[in-house]
Amino acid sequence: MGATYDFDTVVDRRGTWCVQWDGVADRFGVDGLLPFTISDMDFATAPEVLAALRARLEHGVLGYTTWQQDDFRSAIAHWYATRYDTTIDTGQLVYGPSVLNQLSQLLRMWTEEGDGVVVHTPTYDGFRKAITGLGRELRGVPVGDEEALERELSRPDAKVLVLCSPHNPTGRVWTVDELARTAALAERYGVAVISDEIHADFVHEGDAGGAGRVHVPWTRVAGDGRWALISSGSKAFNFPALTGSYGLIGDPADRAEFVRRMETGEGLASSAVLSLTAHIAAYREGAAWLDAVRAYVAGNLGYVAERLGEAFPELGWEPPQAGYLAWIDLRPLGVDDEELQRVLVEREGVAIMGGAVYGAPGFVRLNVGCPREKVVRGVSALVRAVGAVR
Ligand SMILES: Cc1ncc(COP(=O)(O)O)c(C=O)c1O
Repeated sequence: MGATYDFDTVVDRRGTWCVQWDGVADRFGVDGLLPFTISDMDFATAPEVLAALRARLEHGVLGYTTWQQDDFRSAIAHWYATRYDTTIDTGQLVYGPSVLNQLSQLLRMWTEEGDGVVVHTPTYDGFRKAITGLGRELRGVPVGDEEALERELSRPDAKVLVLCSPHNPTGRVWTVDELARTAALAERYGVAVISDEIHADFVHEGDAGGAGRVHVPWTRVAGDGRWALISSGSKAFNFPALTGSYGLIGDPADRAEFVRRMETGEGLASSAVLSLTAHIAAYREGAAWLDAVRAYVAGNLGYVAERLGEAFPELGWEPPQAGYLAWIDLRPLGVDDEELQRVLVEREGVAIMGGAVYGAPGFVRLNVGCPREKVVRGVSALVRAVGAVR
């Protein structure tokens, strides 16, 4: 037996300036709601990560710091070798302040205003904001519709496919065959691929979620076309506010240009030292904690499935293959989104994301990266509210 970890104890996050709890009014207009919203978890990060951060702080000097060193690179290589059975070329590594910042940087490099950027629908709202915010045209393709994918990739002004692997918000884990077909299509039509793999570390085992899928990093299917894999330990280990992420970029000239832009145009020659420290500790020592938190969250998702199955068997809801976000299709119940949100907020006091944020009215997205007792309260509120408005 390895270490045991406690995920049941509630850590009060209120008053920590956190977006999840303290910023709930920004999205829902009311303070004090029980939040199941933005994708971070209510758990403290791994004790191994906290110990490394404490040790680094103990040193006391927090001067300019570089990611271009072997401790960071080799920790990432170790993670990919041990978790994904994948050998990465550490010479392809780059660093960025966040995954979305890297995405924007790559979009600026590889597209011009007005160009088409293909994404799967439903779409993580961060992608939508980055693409449309830069004046690029978002072209949506339903998850799993490969004909539509080919149609969009073949348009002459389609320049980039932003792949979410695994997919937020559906939790879909792409199979190696799906990825290989996607890579072949992108190459055929000269479309660059940016594979956002920030949810990769949270793929569930066969007994939860689904099918025991495994995550396949884009490096394993990438061909000669332009590509980048962007990721961070921040999602699975729950330290996004440290800022810090990494990427792999296939083409050496693209890589050099990316680093040049970060260091000159963006003024980001130095890295977030605590993020580097956290990544190294997580990827060297955090596997047991990650397995434990994932199993706990799988239990939360199983609980959601049980409650929804009892209350609304017609939904046939099953846990996602990856992640801590329960993506729930309420369309079979004919629920009005606005009415549902009104009851959730005003009567139940909970903040649960409506699917329209991801371009999918009729769905809700419930974040269950939290102690079970909160999940019980959230699902109970959802079941009552849906029952009241259906
Ligand atoms: C698919 C995906 N990419 C990126 C991010 C954000 O990552 P970062 O904070 O590093 O920009 C999220 C956060 O929810 C996400 O779901």
